[in-house]
Amino acid sequence: MPSILQCVDCSQQYPIDTVVYSCGACGGLLDVRHDFEPARQGLTQNLFDGRLGALSAPYNSGVWRYKELIYPGVDDEHIVSRMEGNTNLYELPKVAAYAGVDTLFLKHEGENPTGSFKDRGMTTGLTQAKVLKMKRVACASTGNTSASLASYAARAGMQGIIFLQNQQIALGKLAQGIAFGAICLQINADFDRNMALAQQVSARLGMYLLNSVNPFRLEGQKSIMFEALQQLRWQAPDWIVVPGGNLGNSSAFGKGLLELYELGLIDRLPRLAIVQAEGANPLYRHYKSGFRQYQPVKAQTIASAIKIGNPVNVSKAIRALEWTGGVVEAVSDQQIMDAKAVVDAVGIGCEPASACSVAGARKLARRGIIQRGDTVLGVLTGHILKDPEATIGYHADTLPQLKPQHRNEMLQAEADIEEIVALLESAPAPAPLGAARSQN
Ligand code: F0G
Repeated sequence: MPSILQCVDCSQQYPIDTVVYSCGACGGLLDVRHDFEPARQGLTQNLFDGRLGALSAPYNSGVWRYKELIYPGVDDEHIVSRMEGNTNLYELPKVAAYAGVDTLFLKHEGENPTGSFKDRGMTTGLTQAKVLKMKRVACASTGNTSASLASYAARAGMQGIIFLQNQQIALGKLAQGIAFGAICLQINADFDRNMALAQQVSARLGMYLLNSVNPFRLEGQKSIMFEALQQLRWQAPDWIVVPGGNLGNSSAFGKGLLELYELGLIDRLPRLAIVQAEGANPLYRHYKSGFRQYQPVKAQTIASAIKIGNPVNVSKAIRALEWTGGVVEAVSDQQIMDAKAVVDAVGIGCEPASACSVAGARKLARRGIIQRGDTVLGVLTGHILKDPEATIGYHADTLPQLKPQHRNEMLQAEADIEEIVALLESAPAPAPLGAARSQN
């Protein structure tokens, strides 16, 4: 077998086709580990570059293009794919100026089929569910995981079951879960409680759990880094900046970057900056304590995607920080929404949690941790249409405790030409982007 499951804490191993999410011996998280040695000579930049633009499965997917690094032994006919990935990498000088750096790239994972990076983890997750002959797949979610699971379960012909909180789920996400035909459970609990419930109910009913505690999810999410590095012609940036919620992406990025480096596909490791919302910052606090005292928090933030107080992947995220010389930052809701408005106003757009990448880069640059001349690659994790209420609330200035710094106020007029012309002639020019109007 070219791949096995291995505990990150005690190295206990399990066959790849075991239904297991944590180590039976010590309770630690599991990695999918691949033996790259037999194929090592062939794992070159040219191999992956030669597949760019592929028209047929599996290499037309931005995940399965790197199949040898994701799940080498899997049978192609088990692969459940929506041609995910293949997302754009934007170089955005105006957003760079706002962040206070010369070069900023944003990789837009909101351009995936269901509008978030989760599709990269769901293609591998549902593929493994097929390998294991599962009938039902389940997750707890702040919304994006459930939208993605519902879509991929439908494609695979399996029943999706999603555990949702009954408050603050963004409408674009809820609508997808329902429309794609998953069983939608709205539960009177926050994400952290739902996560525990989903784990227990899945074990009891034999449903395959597809939260990021499932290591196959993270194998797919590694491809965000593979594709971004390929788009940069395999030249590593100085920094990768990513929002942190359940810490699946951060963990996947650390593993993926290390694998690229060990295989000689990149010649240095970028540093990872994980950015949490101030009201949902257990990793940030842990980091600040020198990793001495981990404590879950009761989460609260407008960035509902990352409203998570007890992330499941803490130990893997710490490992990723160690491997890459990484840092953790926290940003306020005000900083998140202002950064989002800046990303939106250049015509790209993202959901609130995604803007942590830009708000975090800006804060780290102000603190001198990111240098102006550093090359920064931020990940936008979700699409602007996921959470229209937050966007409209910002520009209508109806969000509590927030003062929009980059507001695009709606104008109202009667159906009268003179009034409309007068209004347009007196309308203020859009505020220039950059530091000028921002107080933060
Ligand atoms: N950004 C978005 C848009 C998300 O949906 C999530 C997580 C994150 C960032 C955080 O990523 O968990 O890998 O650290 N959303 C999950 C969900 C929790 O249920 O959709 P992470």
